[in-house]
Amino acid sequence: MRGSKNIAAIPWALEEVSITNARQRELNLPPEASSYLDFSDLLTGYRQSSALMLAHDAGVFDAVGQEGCEGPELCRRCGWDLLYGERFLRCLCGLGLLRQEDTRYFLSPFAATYLRSDSAQYQGKTLAFEKQLYRSWEQLPATLGAGKRLFATEEKTPEELEQAFTTYLGSMDEAARIRAKELWDWFPLPATGGTILDLGSGSGAFLADFLLRWTSWRGIFCDLPLVIANNELHRRLAGIEHRISWCGCNLLADCPSDFDAIPDKSCDLVLLSNIIHCQENAETTALMRKAASKTREPGLLVVHDFFSDCGWRGALYDIHMMLNTFNGKTYSLPEISEMAVACGFCHSFAKQFRSGSTALIFARNRETLPETA
Ligand SMILES: C[S@@+](CC[C@H](N)C(=O)[O-])C[C@H]1O[C@@H](n2cnc3c(N)ncnc32)[C@H](O)[C@@H]1O
Repeated sequence: MRGSKNIAAIPWALEEVSITNARQRELNLPPEASSYLDFSDLLTGYRQSSALMLAHDAGVFDAVGQEGCEGPELCRRCGWDLLYGERFLRCLCGLGLLRQEDTRYFLSPFAATYLRSDSAQYQGKTLAFEKQLYRSWEQLPATLGAGKRLFATEEKTPEELEQAFTTYLGSMDEAARIRAKELWDWFPLPATGGTILDLGSGSGAFLADFLLRWTSWRGIFCDLPLVIANNELHRRLAGIEHRISWCGCNLLADCPSDFDAIPDKSCDLVLLSNIIHCQENAETTALMRKAASKTREPGLLVVHDFFSDCGWRGALYDIHMMLNTFNGKTYSLPEISEMAVACGFCHSFAKQFRSGSTALIFARNRETLPETA
């Protein structure tokens, strides 16, 4: 969607999708035919999730491997009763995770991509992290009553903290690699060279994917000092470290920090990926202002996130933030656009990706905004 005038006046072309019509589109069913199926799927969503988690924990996907595996052998490897185990394997076929040829089971393309541990897109840490989050969702009734976050993990030793952080980094990285590819595959060819500033870089997946595509660009990795100190992070980015500058700071603090060393209006592309949802309005407004201050006059500001008005996934993400952050929330597209306009970024377009996230691209001048698909 190409924005042309003042962004606040743009009717967002992204559909405001309700659960019903989002599911209708996925299922390709007419409205009246899908309504009970919607209800039923919504009601029993936990069954799919439980089956997926259990199969992964039992090692089914690695046991099947590339060559496939006989049913009895698979049950033996997973420690299951033969009859009940085979019933469960047939269920996994029904869910599209396995396929059966005679007595032998094989991975579906989906499982081979995301669930086998030697796949480049393996999501093992994401599964482990989601399981931890289940505990926070059990706190939803009490949280709604209290009007504040109740779920918090126990006090940790420095070693436990480092370990927990590495798990968080790993799970963030697995998802970020998929979403980074989606974003930069779509993103219009940037100028021949320049600097990308990644605010809240996390695992560095967005920065790394970008720098590997555009070899004449340099990057600034900006995150909390704790993140930048993580050894695993530097191991992951070793191949491109010579093109990265490090900026360890708390972006919400006003005290002097590495951030001040980045000259104003010096970056051609400033990325805020999945960071605006970490805090409340006033803090996010300040964050947008900081991002805008470093964006070169004809540069672009990119906000990539889940938005509350982009379908049911964004709506659920808001509750995820309610339960798992101090004061984070999911913003609507107009809320973020208003903040951008206040910083002088009056031109924009939005793009929703297949895996559920959305990118908002902002520019000060219409000519700077690239033509896109
Ligand atoms: C959800 S992660 C997103 C990481 C990455 N941009 C992505 O899209 O995968 C949010 C990141 O922002 C960082 N972050 C959150 N609040 C911050 C702050 N006040 N100052 C600096 N970094 C912050 C976190 O440490 C974390 O790495």
